[in-house]
Amino acid sequence: MASQSLPSLLKNPDHYLKVFNTYCSASGKFNVYQAWVDSEHFSEAVVGKLQATLDGQEGLRVLGVGSGSGEIDCAILEQLLRQFPRIDNRVVDPSDELLGRYKALAESRAHQLHGVTCDWRQQTIEQYEKAGDLTKFHFIGAIHSMYHADSEDALNSWLTYLYSRLENGGVMLIIMRTEDCGCTRFLNGCQLSFRDDFNDVTSGDVRSSLDRLGIAYTQYRQPQRMNIATCFDRASEVGNLLLDFLTFTVCFREAAPEDLQTRVMEHLASSDCSERNGDEIWLSLDWDAVVINKPLGIAAQ
Ligand SMILES: C[S@@+](CC[C@H](N)C(=O)[O-])C[C@H]1O[C@@H](n2cnc3c(N)ncnc32)[C@H](O)[C@@H]1O
Repeated sequence: MASQSLPSLLKNPDHYLKVFNTYCSASGKFNVYQAWVDSEHFSEAVVGKLQATLDGQEGLRVLGVGSGSGEIDCAILEQLLRQFPRIDNRVVDPSDELLGRYKALAESRAHQLHGVTCDWRQQTIEQYEKAGDLTKFHFIGAIHSMYHADSEDALNSWLTYLYSRLENGGVMLIIMRTEDCGCTRFLNGCQLSFRDDFNDVTSGDVRSSLDRLGIAYTQYRQPQRMNIATCFDRASEVGNLLLDFLTFTVCFREAAPEDLQTRVMEHLASSDCSERNGDEIWLSLDWDAVVINKPLGIAAQ
């Protein structure tokens, strides 16, 4: 299929935010993650693996990479607080708008986050690395942010750098969409049809990169899905915004020629990508939690 150039969502931060908010509500994203973080799986797989020896004065050092509006990071901080009453939380995210929302959320949850001190860095992780700060962290969280490492080299660099910032005995949690969920299969089809300007990164890419780097990890797969029936109703504002999110395009319904829209919608409705149940059309958004536990006593790097 010939490649056609459509306005990329990644180049329009305002529209991206609108679309991302719609996706978060439609998929119930934050409720799903809150439930996982509050579950025993999280206590065992993440908090239970953390071996931090802190003297009385020291707080647990936490780094959030691409934390966005902070809902998931705050849920994690609340769990960590149960075991570590003082936390120094550094947040690195280039989006002024999202950092602002995270700050507002942290203020509104000041009671639940009592003991947490935040240090906000409006930077990409590449800019943060360049600035040369040598702080090491007991816990590093990169939740759905490694999609922005848009080549194999960039992903290797993110992982190598973040691992070097992890304390021995520390834990890094990376969450990414899986390589074989319906959403990824849909995106692969889009990449073939028209979205050749963007490199999809999945949990499979993160795991391959960790394998190449010789960094051990444990993977926990979690199911999630979203009803995308509104995408097939041209009059639905929510559906059109979701379609923008899924195709990484600004106003896909206006920008794409009819024949391309037909192909894309047929692909989305196909059993390769989604599952029909009466009036509902479900797209799977399964994700992996990749947990890295840096051994105690490994040579400083
Ligand atoms: C899909 S959002 C995920 C936000 C949040 N962690 C969540 O799961 O709701 C990706 C986040 O990565 C941030 N981001 C984009 N490029 C980045 C980079 N180079 N370094 C660090 N963060 C980046 C974006 O600003 C955004 O907040």
